Amino acid sequence: MTASPPDPDELRASIRALWERSADGWAQSNGRFTAATLAVSHWLVNAIRPQPGQHLLELAAGIGETGFLAAELIEPGGVLVSSDGAEAMVEAARARAEELGLSNVEFRPVDLEWIDARTAEFDGVLCRWGYMFAVDREAALRETRRVLRPGGRVALATWTAPERNPWAMLIREALYDAGLTDALLPPSPSPFDLATPAILGTLLEDAGFAEIETAEVELTFPYAGVIDYFSEAVAILRPLTDLVSGLNEAQLKDLRARLEQKAAPYEHADGSLSLPGVALVAVAEA
Ligand SMILES: C[S@@+](CC[C@H](N)C(=O)[O-])C[C@H]1O[C@@H](n2cnc3c(N)ncnc32)[C@H](O)[C@@H]1O
Repeated sequence: MTASPPDPDELRASIRALWERSADGWAQSNGRFTAATLAVSHWLVNAIRPQPGQHLLELAAGIGETGFLAAELIEPGGVLVSSDGAEAMVEAARARAEELGLSNVEFRPVDLEWIDARTAEFDGVLCRWGYMFAVDREAALRETRRVLRPGGRVALATWTAPERNPWAMLIREALYDAGLTDALLPPSPSPFDLATPAILGTLLEDAGFAEIETAEVELTFPYAGVIDYFSEAVAILRPLTDLVSGLNEAQLKDLRARLEQKAAPYEHADGSLSLPGVALVAVAEA
């Protein structure tokens, strides 16, 4: 007997709950993650061509760093709305903007599928690693197009295939090989669901976008060693936090040995690691 698909509303509620509980881990890892992924933020911000006085929206903003880069470029007179579906993320972004001394940013809890904004309210929309988590991605992109003025641009990032993202996969592979998970990949909606230009292009086209361009951005995630990688992966990939917290000492030791073996090809002489990843980015016009 095959399991029936999950009820979409229950799925939405469980995804949101997971992200609410992830905000602390993301805030803690923010410095390193922001630095390692800056090339993607720059690509996205350049792609929407921010101008002084414009109104921009960042969706699924997490701690908000990508939008904050754009906020400086729309001064004077421009306003960035930094949003996320998880209120704990919105609060973490608000705290970060205060730290940065930004004064032209508003904060709103906003769901990707029901964007609480007026039609044509924005000149540009940014969404880094967010649309993959919408249960109905076409609805999310149609909503995005609705809130953009005609000719306004959306720039978004997803991940390419799992095998091109060792930074996200080594921990999953180690857990799977140790028999601690029964699936190598997380269930859909997952980070790797929009992994090709064809999938992404079709989705954007179906939502009515034009002038679609895609590109890949290669990234490197630096870690002091396997333990450092393990701690961060567990902090930001919340389902793994829950799984790992239930493991006994022998299981943890086994997991560490497996991770050390998997990380060996990426290890430097001093034990530090450089784990690669490849983002897929896109820009399109409403
Ligand atoms: C992988 S994180 C990316 C965060 C940030 N954009 C970045 O690049 O660092 C995914 C974000 O999407 C948000 N998210 C997931 N589903 C969402 C939804 N349906 N509506 C709005 N935000 C959502 C999560 O709360 C989380 O902050």
